[in-house]
Amino acid sequence: MRGYFGIGVQGISKAANLGAVMRTAHAFGASFVYTIDAYHKALRVDATDRSRTLKHLPHYQWDNVDDMRLPQGCTLVGVELCERSVEMPSFRHPLAAAYVLGPEQGSLSPEIQDLCTYIVKIPTKFCINVSLAAALTLYDRTLCLGGYPERPLEPGGPDLAALEEWRALRARNG
Ligand SMILES: C[S@@+](CC[C@H](N)C(=O)[O-])C[C@H]1O[C@@H](n2cnc3c(N)ncnc32)[C@H](O)[C@@H]1O
Repeated sequence: MRGYFGIGVQGISKAANLGAVMRTAHAFGASFVYTIDAYHKALRVDATDRSRTLKHLPHYQWDNVDDMRLPQGCTLVGVELCERSVEMPSFRHPLAAAYVLGPEQGSLSPEIQDLCTYIVKIPTKFCINVSLAAALTLYDRTLCLGGYPERPLEPGGPDLAALEEWRALRARNG
């Protein structure tokens, strides 16, 4: 996978949700996780994060949006259902990205929305659980930047010989 990403949540209040976001981030290969205005409420994440993300990834804990410090060149991408949001299946994910999701009750604050270069939405009829939204966002990133070949037109997986050839070509060309 090219590039890197971090993922964080603003104002989250349930440790179980934060644990699920962290476990998902870890599984998809995040470089860092973060919380904004949340750590004092929700540090006990082990129940839903048996992967022990906090032992493997840096967790930045910022009191408020003004304290956020992202790596240079890292694009902030909001994940929210709002007027400004672009539908995720039509969105090209930035190589270096920090995704931010909102609290269980409420939405990303106007302050952080202003800082987002992009805001994306998952095409659902209504909002879904925050940890599920995180998982779908990272899965979509994997589809977008994972370097997978086009799907075959017929049902089923790719032709394995053609896939091997394509992988060898990709490894040679970088
Ligand atoms: C449970 S939702 C927040 C509740 C919601 N604002 C409401 O009261 O209707 C928690 C967070 O999950 C994310 N989320 C949930 N569904 C989403 C969707 N379809 N597209 C993008 N983000 C979503 C957003 O970051 C949102 O702030």
